[in-house]
Amino acid sequence: MSNVAVVLAAGLGKRMKSSVPKVLHPVLGDPVLLWVLLTLPPTVSSAVVVLHHGKDQVELALASWAKQGLLPCPITTVDQGEPLGTGHAVQAAAHELDRLEATNIVILSGDVPLLTSTTVARLAASNVGVLLAMDLDEPAGYGRVIQHADGTLKSLIEFKDADEATRKIRRVNGGVYALPWSGLKPALASLRNDNAQGEFYLTDAVVTMAGRTPIRVELCDPTELMGMNSRGDQAVLQACARSQVNERWMEAGVTFLDPESTVVGPRAELAKDVILEPNVRLEGRIKVGEGTRIGQGCVIADCTIDEGVEFKPYCVARESRIGKGAKLGPFAHLREGSVLENNVHVGNFVETKKAILHEGAKANHLSYLGDAEIGARTNIGAGFISCNYDGFHKFKTTIGQDVFVGSDCQMVAPVTLGDGAIIGAGSTITEDVPANALALTRAPLILKEGAAERLRQKQRAKQG
Ligand code: UD1
Ligand code: MG
Repeated sequence: MSNVAVVLAAGLGKRMKSSVPKVLHPVLGDPVLLWVLLTLPPTVSSAVVVLHHGKDQVELALASWAKQGLLPCPITTVDQGEPLGTGHAVQAAAHELDRLEATNIVILSGDVPLLTSTTVARLAASNVGVLLAMDLDEPAGYGRVIQHADGTLKSLIEFKDADEATRKIRRVNGGVYALPWSGLKPALASLRNDNAQGEFYLTDAVVTMAGRTPIRVELCDPTELMGMNSRGDQAVLQACARSQVNERWMEAGVTFLDPESTVVGPRAELAKDVILEPNVRLEGRIKVGEGTRIGQGCVIADCTIDEGVEFKPYCVARESRIGKGAKLGPFAHLREGSVLENNVHVGNFVETKKAILHEGAKANHLSYLGDAEIGARTNIGAGFISCNYDGFHKFKTTIGQDVFVGSDCQMVAPVTLGDGAIIGAGSTITEDVPANALALTRAPLILKEGAAERLRQKQRAKQG
């Protein structure tokens, strides 16, 4: 038996009014298609994503998620061609489903992100056909569900094909199913499009199957089945997801000083006693250790942060690692590949990129550390610049441990400072400095007693 997921994502998403495919629009920083794929449990052995509009962009995104090791199972794509309805979409995947020797298929919509993995796992484990439904006070344009007396599925009627009485039914189709492929395949082959929308409805195939073997109608929390069809829907999903995620972390012992303004992505892992101040955004793959405090307005993506770290307000960090007890900001900027070992201090207006700061190193003010390695306990004075780029290539600055670099120094890379070196303030270092040496480059001071006053008098005389 092999469970295969089919994710429908070929639609245009016209109401998003976007040149980005609908399924790549984010909720809490993750594209909705990624949310859907991350619900797939280990019992689903592979997934087929049905694409057409924006296919190239979606495939690029899929390749990048695969490269980052995010995808829970092998994923293939098929091109539906001009989308002619949900039934036509699953038919487009038929060849692939046969190749994968699918027995049970789970059908998901690429634009329904809040379905939980528990629900999908339950669908995948079902040995009878299941359709997810919900009861809505305002059932709007959804397909209506009609059941037999024993609760199994009798019929599905699309809103546009429904009469007044049918439109009053509040139980609607969530568009998510688990079905045996052996039953669905022939039902799809005999689909017709003589309906109000001229489409090949998957729902008609499901009803045909229900005529042969009972299909269970399972009620589901409506937020799980909420689809994203417009920017308005996206905002509602975002608000819903935010409160779900934030509540979960509060239960796990995380403090949110202002949960309404704090965005934590679905892939974050927060330890207990983490404190998040207002307007914090944590996106992508994020790990935050116990007792770490993230100050107001920090924006952090794809970082691992150890215990007891203090981010003062308004720091930006991405693709970086931060060790225990480090202190950052306010206004620090860690770019990709920054590694701050334990107890490192990186202060205001310090930018790092591909920089390793070993344990206890400090760069507290106004500096750029790019392609640099800074040894343990080394102190980098204010206004330090690693001149890492000559207009063509990047070069590395290597600084040993226990080095003292005075204020306003430039390192013209490639350059190495040995352990224990001292660099005088205002120096431009163009050659390697050996361990324990003192280096400074300085124009001689010119000092003219009284010259300032003489100059002022001369200028005043000119003004008359
Ligand atoms: C569908 C169901 C409806 C249900 C609703 C739940 C049918 C006929 N109707 O309606 O009963 O209440 O979902 O949300 O199935 N797609 C394709 N190719 C196509 C058409 C659609 O890949 O040719 C994709 C879309 O991109 C989308 C999903 O399938 O991700 C659902 O399609 P959509 O057009 O939104 O279906 P609804 O009309 O909402
Ligand atoms: Mg829809």
